[in-house]
Amino acid sequence: MGTNRIPFVDLVTPHRELKEELTAVFEHALETAGFIGGPMVEDFERTFARCCDTQHCVGVGSGTDALRLALIAAGVGPDDAVITVPNTFIATAEAISQCGALPRFVDIDERTYNMDVNRLAAYLADECFPDDSDGKLVDKQTGRAVKAIVPVHLYGQMADMDPILELAEKYNLLVIEDACQAHGAEYFSRRENRCKQAGSMGRAAAFSFYPGKNLGACGEAGAVTTNDMELALKVRMLRDHGQAQKYYHEIEGYNGRLDSIQAGILGIKLRHLTTWNERRRECASRYQELLGAASEVIKLPFEPSWSKAVFHLYVVQVQNREQLQKHLGEAGIGTGIHYPIPLHLQKAYENLGYRQGDFPVSEEAASHILSLPMFPGLTYAQQDRIAQLVLDFVCGATVGIPNSTPGARL
Ligand SMILES: Cc1ncc(COP(=O)(O)O)c(C=O)c1O
Repeated sequence: MGTNRIPFVDLVTPHRELKEELTAVFEHALETAGFIGGPMVEDFERTFARCCDTQHCVGVGSGTDALRLALIAAGVGPDDAVITVPNTFIATAEAISQCGALPRFVDIDERTYNMDVNRLAAYLADECFPDDSDGKLVDKQTGRAVKAIVPVHLYGQMADMDPILELAEKYNLLVIEDACQAHGAEYFSRRENRCKQAGSMGRAAAFSFYPGKNLGACGEAGAVTTNDMELALKVRMLRDHGQAQKYYHEIEGYNGRLDSIQAGILGIKLRHLTTWNERRRECASRYQELLGAASEVIKLPFEPSWSKAVFHLYVVQVQNREQLQKHLGEAGIGTGIHYPIPLHLQKAYENLGYRQGDFPVSEEAASHILSLPMFPGLTYAQQDRIAQLVLDFVCGATVGIPNSTPGARL
């Protein structure tokens, strides 16, 4: 196996390539003792806001912080319900419940894996009612006021934001984007007739800079983007113990600041984000070319005409997912499952009262999805090898041949 190993994600090479610049960030921080706040944080916030086409960016400690603080700053709190999807990382729901609200799920679209706008419309129309006293929308089952929608731009592809925003307007709901996997993703808005950046469409958006993300720190980091100045100021206070002036605490806040060293590192990496995202898109097209012929037995990612995805993950679906994962693993190829258990069936959310069968599309996806290696440095030769192994497996599995001849027509 040895040198033939292909990691699921290569986090070593990009750091090796940028080593001098990244090391200079540490040296600068050591020399100036600038560890918290300061120019590196402010520079990064300015540049990232520009990249996202928003007026404000507030650096925070993680993507989870970004979601939680954006929701709190937007006014979500106890007694509220917030709508999201079950097919996401748990942090989406944690942020909702940790500000006191209740996560309510709607199922995903089977082709994009993102929030199904028809199901969202049906939930709002059939499972909620407007309260006579104040017109607020109430979730029938829980009696909670529905306050916000958190669409997740999963795997690097934006949710279908036009209809989501229209429904939000109709029912007077906030939209906070979970853009934690979607740095640089774009959406063509039919209603505005122009391209929009991930993170620029909701009242606010949350980004994660966890190391494996398209834009990753060398530790934990996150950011909130928004065009709402008041919300940005509130997040700034919340991330810093509720103070705008040292030791004058206007509200109770958190310790949720973005570390200066991480901000410096992110600023350097941000210069490469467009190129890295283009490479990911090339790799996705290449997978499509190599695996497209087997589309009856392997479901490939779907990119609607309005989407320009940045392929944080390249997720396929097959019948015998575990065996394919084992087959690839034995050949030295790393894979992942994002995610094996939808949130409504996680033990941590037993209290929400959902059952197996409630969100069939998410459940079906969770048992068949497999994330293939995807990172900017993935070579065509590596992809050829991965695709050949996948094709050997899926063709053999379907037609009952233990190992079909490499290169056989499907
Ligand atoms: C969709 C989604 N939401 C939220 C988060 C939370 O981000 P972090 O790990 O930086 O807290 C992540 C990160 O993995 C994510 O993928």
